[in-house]
Amino acid sequence: MNSTDKVDFTEVRWGSVEWTNLCTLYLRAYESRSPAPILGDTAAAEAVDRIEYDWARMRRAMRPASNQYMVSMRAKQFDDWSGDFLRRHSNAVVLHLGCGMDTRVFRLHPRGTVQWFDVDQPNVIALRRKLYDDRDGYRMIGSSVTGNWLDEIPTDRPMLMVAEGLVMYLTESEVRTLLQRLTDRFASGELLFDTVSPMGPRLSKVLTKGITKWGIRDAREIEQWSPRLRFLEQSSAGALYERIPSAPVRLLWRLIYATPFRNYDVLNRFAF
Ligand SMILES: C[S@@+](CC[C@H](N)C(=O)[O-])C[C@H]1O[C@@H](n2cnc3c(N)ncnc32)[C@H](O)[C@@H]1O
Repeated sequence: MNSTDKVDFTEVRWGSVEWTNLCTLYLRAYESRSPAPILGDTAAAEAVDRIEYDWARMRRAMRPASNQYMVSMRAKQFDDWSGDFLRRHSNAVVLHLGCGMDTRVFRLHPRGTVQWFDVDQPNVIALRRKLYDDRDGYRMIGSSVTGNWLDEIPTDRPMLMVAEGLVMYLTESEVRTLLQRLTDRFASGELLFDTVSPMGPRLSKVLTKGITKWGIRDAREIEQWSPRLRFLEQSSAGALYERIPSAPVRLLWRLIYATPFRNYDVLNRFAF
């Protein structure tokens, strides 16, 4: 596939899981064109340019002028933590779970000695394959993270798991099993994932047919799930709001940050 070829995504149903991946891709692409981007995801902008879709309708629905920073602040924090790990472990295995259309691998440019795996449900990976190919050091795996995909991963290296916007769609028992399997298989690594408050699944029952299944009040408690897990740090998804270039949008985020809503989506970093 040529990296400039147009690809047709018009079959992606409005409101589907694949569509939510296009929403976040679109917001990251939009933010890359901001005068002072926080994330600067030019690979997302290139992807949006290649994808045939009703982007005008997406723009009306997403209101990107005010919403672009929601995803870019969260992604930036995960990129910074991931970059820190990759600088210390040049031979790492990266498990990017629930990757959707995220271009994290292109933003971070890992060294050739890193092995990077983008994992998501088969239908999402099939869509992703329209845009990108596997290559040396980079593979896509179409599987539920609750399936047997780990058998395909080399386990003799330090491991970094990044799961952005994923674990709230699993049950607590599935999250426990996933983390247990990872810490059982690898000698050492870091686990980066965001968690929502218990309000998430409660609201989801009313608003989104219960698609959000799991929330936790204080994710530091996850340390108690396994004697091998060590809590390192956590951060609100909106913690970088001071870097928002637009003054009115920055003010809006400052107001949100001053309320308990700052603890709605929390980014967590654990080591083992
Ligand atoms: C909100 S999207 C986030 C996508 C991407 N991380 C981003 O930030 O743009 C959630 C992703 O998790 C994936 N997902 C949900 N449950 C999953 C599972 N059991 N196994 C693998 N992926 C899953 C969905 O298919 C979707 O791509």
